[in-house]
Amino acid sequence: MLDNILGYNRTTWATGILILFVSYVLLRYLRAASRRILPCPPGPPMRPFIGNIMDIRVDKPWLKLTDYKYKYGDLVYFQGLGQSMLVLNSLQAMTDLLEKRASKYSDRPIFIFGNELMGLNRYLTFCDYNDEWRAQRKLAHTALSPTAVKGYHVMQEDSAAIFARDLLRAPENFNPLMRLTSSKIILAITYGIPMDTPEDKYITQIEELAKVGVKAVMPGTYLVDLLPILKYAPSWVPFQREAKWAWDMTELAIARPFEYVKRELEAGTAPPSFVQQLLTDPLDDIADFERRVKWAAGSMYGAGAESTYVTVIIFFLVMALYPDKQRIAQAEVDRIVGTDRLPTIEDRSCLPYVNALIKETMRWHPIMPLGVAHRSSEDDEYEGYFIPKSTVVIPNVWSIAFEPNEKYEPQAFLPERFLDPSHPTVDPSMWMFGFGRRICPGSVLAENSIFITIATLLASFDISLPDTGELKPQFSSFQISYPEPFDCRIVPRSGLKASIIEARAAQSTI
Ligand code: HEM
Repeated sequence: MLDNILGYNRTTWATGILILFVSYVLLRYLRAASRRILPCPPGPPMRPFIGNIMDIRVDKPWLKLTDYKYKYGDLVYFQGLGQSMLVLNSLQAMTDLLEKRASKYSDRPIFIFGNELMGLNRYLTFCDYNDEWRAQRKLAHTALSPTAVKGYHVMQEDSAAIFARDLLRAPENFNPLMRLTSSKIILAITYGIPMDTPEDKYITQIEELAKVGVKAVMPGTYLVDLLPILKYAPSWVPFQREAKWAWDMTELAIARPFEYVKRELEAGTAPPSFVQQLLTDPLDDIADFERRVKWAAGSMYGAGAESTYVTVIIFFLVMALYPDKQRIAQAEVDRIVGTDRLPTIEDRSCLPYVNALIKETMRWHPIMPLGVAHRSSEDDEYEGYFIPKSTVVIPNVWSIAFEPNEKYEPQAFLPERFLDPSHPTVDPSMWMFGFGRRICPGSVLAENSIFITIATLLASFDISLPDTGELKPQFSSFQISYPEPFDCRIVPRSGLKASIIEARAAQSTI
């Protein structure tokens, strides 16, 4: 019977199936080939086997990648060792791909060190564009929406006043004091941890972890990301030991503040916070709720504390280097706010020069010069080029910040460039918070924190070069580019200012 099915013998059936299969394979091949006819975007010359992918492993790659813009264009492509990377060198390309085609460009790179060995992909910031991301992002939105952040204004103003008071006592400690301030405000918003809690309780470990984290998510830092076979290296190899330490630290850092809120909730003494609110009143449509709240909270802390801190430290640096700009901003604060109180977040819209100075601080040294990389989830075509699935896409925002301008030299520190519509400069808020569906959900909170801290400093202190009279800015080459430690002089503008700061800090309720 098997010899004759529906009137056809076995050989005819087998031939038919074979023809169908070959046609299917041929069709798929032709479809892929027709796309493949398109070239990949240009890039530096290829070497056998390793291609040009190692070219990205240089100190401060954003500088070299910006040079490449003028050699190869807005799209620069690297490949080799089974990987492909596309560097975007214009706001147009970033918007076209990461924003307008967000459904194809919202995954994160597969960092073997960061994700597999350290477990960073459990954080909202590093997980792929999937249900885990959707759930955690929705949770984060409850604390970071424009309406929610209005509720933090007083806390942010209090925290700026306390920072100013601490500076009166130990101005030489401006760097660690600012780091503490930005960590503590996020700990207060996320977990309700009081600002006067000793820092070693929750912060020290996270800072250590952040140092590894910012290296782990910089494409090309760890060789294992380019040669994944290395992940099978024995546990005594230094990078494996570092990864094991970081994994354990991640677990601990995320659990400690979360357990604090649970204990306080049980005792009936939990202050209002993101975690307290969600654990008290869970969202019904999110599965695995508690674990997701825990990681979303950790993401807010991890993503928010360092970036705000680094921005304000760069402000200290530029104020010491460009005292004439400081004077103009101080005069505006004195004129608009007056000299008998500290500024508030409400004052922001009335201080155009201060806002321009903050924008220029962010442009002069973008703290994330290569943004945060995305990864494509499908093959694509753009501007006549083929972009294969799983390409890591890097927005080189440095190239936008340093775009040539007919009137304003990109290397110069000139807040005036943001007040002159005749020679427009792209506003950093268009690129510094990322793109598309992965855009930073904390941008409004961050901008308010940065504004109130800087406006308070301008109202209260004169910042100038250290006694040596020398300051040579140097920056690190990680995903967040930190200024290397430097000194500057910070003195209260007057005795009256010092007493205003003391009085305002004493009124603080945090
Ligand atoms: C100067 C301050 C800040 C800067 C420059 C900054 C910048 C960024 C950038 C570039 C991204 C990646 C966007 C992309 O993938 O295209 C990001 C993501 C993120 N940021 Fe911020 N950020 C800042 C402050 C904050 C604050 C204060 C918070 C929260 C408290 C925060 C929470 C997050 C989170 C949770 C993500 C991950 C979003 C996702 O992957 O879907 N950020 N931020």
